[in-house]
Amino acid sequence: MALRSVLLASVLATASLASVIDLDIKVRNGYRTIEVDLGTPGGPYDLLFDTGSATLWVVDEDCNDGCPNVSGYTRHKYSPTSTGTYLGVADSIAYTGGTIDGFGASDILSIPGTNVSYRQTFAVATASTWSALGADGFLGLGSSTIAFKNTTAPFEQMMQDGLLDKPRFAIYQGTGVSTTSQPNPVNNGVFTFGGSHEDIYADGEFQWIQMESPFEVYKTGFHGVQGHNITADGKNQSGQLLNWYGDVVFDTGASSISISESHIDEVYAMTPFSYADLLNGYRPLCSEFNDTWSVSFTVGFSGEAATFTLTGDQLAVPGYVDDDHCFPPFNSWNSENTILGQHWMQNFYMVFDFGSFDPESYNIRLGIAPLKKEYRHRA
Ligand SMILES: *[C@@H]1O[C@H](CO)[C@@H](O)[C@H](O)[C@H]1NC(C)=O
Ligand SMILES: *[C@@H]1O[C@H](CO)[C@@H](O)[C@H](O)[C@H]1NC(C)=O
Ligand SMILES: *[C@@H]1O[C@H](CO)[C@@H](O)[C@H](O)[C@H]1NC(C)=O
Ligand SMILES: *[C@@H]1O[C@H](CO)[C@@H](O)[C@H](O)[C@H]1NC(C)=O
Ligand SMILES: *[C@@H]1O[C@H](CO)[C@@H](O)[C@H](O)[C@H]1NC(C)=O
Ligand SMILES: *[C@@H]1O[C@H](CO)[C@@H](O)[C@H](O)[C@H]1NC(C)=O
Repeated sequence: MALRSVLLASVLATASLASVIDLDIKVRNGYRTIEVDLGTPGGPYDLLFDTGSATLWVVDEDCNDGCPNVSGYTRHKYSPTSTGTYLGVADSIAYTGGTIDGFGASDILSIPGTNVSYRQTFAVATASTWSALGADGFLGLGSSTIAFKNTTAPFEQMMQDGLLDKPRFAIYQGTGVSTTSQPNPVNNGVFTFGGSHEDIYADGEFQWIQMESPFEVYKTGFHGVQGHNITADGKNQSGQLLNWYGDVVFDTGASSISISESHIDEVYAMTPFSYADLLNGYRPLCSEFNDTWSVSFTVGFSGEAATFTLTGDQLAVPGYVDDDHCFPPFNSWNSENTILGQHWMQNFYMVFDFGSFDPESYNIRLGIAPLKKEYRHRA
């Protein structure tokens, strides 16, 4: 009850400041980041935006041996500023790709090029196994309920501080592709807090997918996949529908598409590649990824599920040892659930809409639309 009135008051008090905030997306070693300032005086931090976790973290100024760095990128480390305070709590986060340990802190977060500035809690890492991360830390976009002890997720904090025009964020990942020869390509991606730009990027309407509640990360039902081939005489031939049920997580912090080990052979049978050959060291040529074959994914709650199709060329990710070879399009993992990472999401304009600024009234849906031709990524 009290929370609801506090929210309402802050939204009204700052309504005239509510913004749509557009941030450039950078690509470095395949990691996609956005830049925010932390502290007074502020300093820029490039943070991996991660829909699969909920914490903002940066590296402590004194973390050296505990925070190994093989990224080729000099990290901007955090030291207390005139507006910074420590919360006196310690915690750790175990991600699928690494872990951090650290303590809680609070400081002013400002968005460069705007007047948006507010107090944000975050974690300062005193140990991190993210040695290859080409970024200064993470900006988690999941729920505060799963964030580092005593910290809030930045997007939810901005909503509760009345800083945003609409309860949504939207992502156009951009056309930049990190390759062996060019790890830090120019990119034209845009991350939007408080609004979305489907008029610019989307080719057609969004298909809306309801997310599971209670909200932790962006998760819904998974129904299965189907392959199609264009035959020599131009016919579109459908393969068998491969059904299995589990959850699917839309995770910008994951690069690839992860599929249950119990179905990985059958999914690869829809492509020109055999999983057994890949395990024996076969490296796909990027030229094998073309639009004569496609794989369709069906996601959402039963009764309102939607199907999204990616052609071979949309699944191509060069740089598997060299630029002529592309990464295998699917990874296998030990779960019936599916993870759709960057390599899937970079083919769509995606809006993450909460339906309400009030956590008690969230109705979280993802709007997913194909990109206009000029905005599609080029492998
Ligand atoms: C990270 O790597 C870069 C480049 O190798 C190096 O200059 C830097 O000192 C390393 N360490 C940190 C903490 O940034
Ligand atoms: C951290 O969270 C605990 C449990 O909710 C609370 O008792 C404590 O006061 C919080 N500490 C700070 C510094 O906010
Ligand atoms: C920031 O605020 C000042 C003063 O209100 C205004 O003149 C300026 O246009 C604002 N800048 C941005 C980027 O909104
Ligand atoms: C498409 O062709 C590949 C060979 O390139 C084959 O392995 C696969 O089974 C075919 N899929 C369908 C749906 O016909
Ligand atoms: C498309 O890729 C398939 C599978 O790698 C290959 O057999 C076919 O020749 C390619 N077609 C064109 C037009 O490149
Ligand atoms: C074949 O048809 C399916 C179903 O209409 C479509 O989703 C898919 O994109 C087509 N496949 C190719 C390779 O164009």
